[in-house]
Amino acid sequence: MAETAQVREVGPRDGIQMVKTILSAEQKLAWIRKEAAAGVRHFEATSFVPPHVIAQFADAAEVARGALAIEGIEAAVLVPNLKGAQRAFDAGVPKVNYVLSASEAHNMANVRRTTDESIADFRRIIAERNARGLKDRVKVNAAIATAFGCTIQGEVPEKRVVAIAETLAAAGADEISLADTVGYANPAQVRRLFAAVAEVAGGVPLAAHFHDTRGLGLANVSAAVDVGVRRFDASLAGLGGCPFAPGATGNINTEDCVFLLESLGFDTGIDIEKLIAVRAEVEAWLPGERFFGMVARAGLPKTFRRKAAA
Ligand code: COA
Ligand code: ZN
Repeated sequence: MAETAQVREVGPRDGIQMVKTILSAEQKLAWIRKEAAAGVRHFEATSFVPPHVIAQFADAAEVARGALAIEGIEAAVLVPNLKGAQRAFDAGVPKVNYVLSASEAHNMANVRRTTDESIADFRRIIAERNARGLKDRVKVNAAIATAFGCTIQGEVPEKRVVAIAETLAAAGADEISLADTVGYANPAQVRRLFAAVAEVAGGVPLAAHFHDTRGLGLANVSAAVDVGVRRFDASLAGLGGCPFAPGATGNINTEDCVFLLESLGFDTGIDIEKLIAVRAEVEAWLPGERFFGMVARAGLPKTFRRKAAA
């Protein structure tokens, strides 16, 4: 049996934060349903941010509830603060991805508070979940944005990222994700930082969230695999980017990421050809957006064999 690796589709969240077209809740849910039929099991379905901050997510509660009704998938949502988490708990989601930035400057731009204030909010979210009796039913994950560098402040010290990860793990994070929000990471840095964070995370699973802004996205996936990471966020067609990080562009591409992981011998459970068909449908809904990706253009090699059948 091949070892499994998780590829989590963040297109309906990260992927559409900056696009010009506002998709309907039904389109977002159809997107998720179609990818579920291609074998994708993990999604970041929406974002509980105020509509005045990102209009695309005015329908977050509706999308979250709709995603919960889709069989066989785990639908997570992004939250930037306690209020977002409360809305997510109200909607009944099984997994909340809380985001804060290691870069003080990006945290201020993104969520209008210091990183320490965001960490305090994280503790309140864990307390609120537990007070609601949801400890065994709702996972609260923490994503550390700009973990590899920041377009506003430049360098983000690795020691600081490790210290934040250690604090979040001790505070009860169910998973810690290191995010390269602006595409600054390189494979050596990825191996070093994930290995250092693993040492302080006390067994909390680690995940990677890479953007392909400078073409190193998949090289970084490969490097993370080398140090034991098995959970990867990716976006269909490489859509995505943070509206509050200057110069941010798309996530690593889901189709290409699945191709890489399957080629390395992992079972992702995902059918790439079906994924490419979904991509063509979503493309029609997002006129004027750039759709990235190599496998969709070139097709699978004749020598390619999925690992799932094992
Ligand atoms: N969902 C809905 N409404 C929310 C909310 C949430 N998660 N958080 C705050 N609000 C509401 C408040 O109730 C308040 O409403 P009111 O004016 O009617 O009373 C208003 O928004 C302002 O609240 P405040 O706590 O002062 O927020 P803020 O203006 O300091 O903004 C964030 C803080 C975190 C809400 C905002 O910066 C944000 O949404 N950032 C996320 C950015 C993002 O999505 N980045 C990309 C993904 S990483
Ligand atoms: Zn992102």
